[in-house]
Amino acid sequence: MAVSLADRYRDRLPITDATPTISLGEGSTPLLAAPRLSERLGFEVLLKWEGANPTGSFKDRGMTVAVAKAVEEGAQAVVCASTGNTAASAAAYAARAGLSAVILQPLGAVALGKLAQARAAAARLLAVRGSFDDALAAALRLADLGMHVLVNSLNPHRLQGQKTAAFELVEELGGAPDVLAIPYGGGGNVCAYALGFEEVGTGVPRLVAGEAAERSATVASAIRITAPAHRADAERAVEASGGEVVSLPDEGILEAWRELATLEGVFCEPSSAAALAAVTRAGLEPGTRVVCVVTGHGLKDPETATAQTPPPVEIDPDPGAIAAALR
Ligand code: F0G
Repeated sequence: MAVSLADRYRDRLPITDATPTISLGEGSTPLLAAPRLSERLGFEVLLKWEGANPTGSFKDRGMTVAVAKAVEEGAQAVVCASTGNTAASAAAYAARAGLSAVILQPLGAVALGKLAQARAAAARLLAVRGSFDDALAAALRLADLGMHVLVNSLNPHRLQGQKTAAFELVEELGGAPDVLAIPYGGGGNVCAYALGFEEVGTGVPRLVAGEAAERSATVASAIRITAPAHRADAERAVEASGGEVVSLPDEGILEAWRELATLEGVFCEPSSAAALAAVTRAGLEPGTRVVCVVTGHGLKDPETATAQTPPPVEIDPDPGAIAAALR
């Protein structure tokens, strides 16, 4: 049977005998070598493939803990604001726990795959006329009424679950990498990794955090967030690590997205490529060992993949037509 995050890291999570296990087999994701990218960049690149989580993003690590704690506390319903991945994860884990999930999403700004996931799990989807930031403010107000547990990363159980990715890296590498490159939206995941490395005792590697230069309008819809909820803590952690926040134009994010798919076969969503895009701009020494956190699966955002690549060539089913098309 699949190992849950709670099974693997029970003693390092806020889990007791009274906490139910609400798991889809999250965590224990692959750490992939990236030899072609490494050769091109002149330093060692490894990819922490979080798209391999059950709903296709790193959010599942935090959601398994947050939803289990909500059940333990007697909740009937959860609420989140989301650019899509938190929604897909909350919907799935709530379904598994028999809770209802209310999702507030920015109208017209959620990628198709994520929407489909939340709809399939029968979440109550509300499209807010406004930005993610407006939706988060509304979710906080709903949670304050006391009927819904907030499962955004302001819920501390989320970061507790997410910190386990750092544990996995240290176990697999025998220590922390030199650099951890990571997308920076609301900053919760930056804080979670810093917490994980601190707890495991290796110290925090240099954190290189990639944010969209145009936060309110980036093609990377998952990180289209103008007021990061964890800005102060995330930027303090980056600075304390000797790292940096790198501001990325959309072309840089898309170029890294393309390279991950074409050089390494890793199809991620655009936001996830912000880690690689940031690290290519950070001026790293040869011999540096870098882990890029690849946060979400490419199937989440088929619109961008379709818009950014040539369509199939239509042909008749005969060898001559194939030869002509491939010329
Ligand atoms: N990568 C992906 C694929 C995401 O979905 C998110 C955030 C991030 C990176 C940034 O992580 O916010 O911890 O800095 N997605 C949230 C959501 C906002 O609603 O799914 P962060």
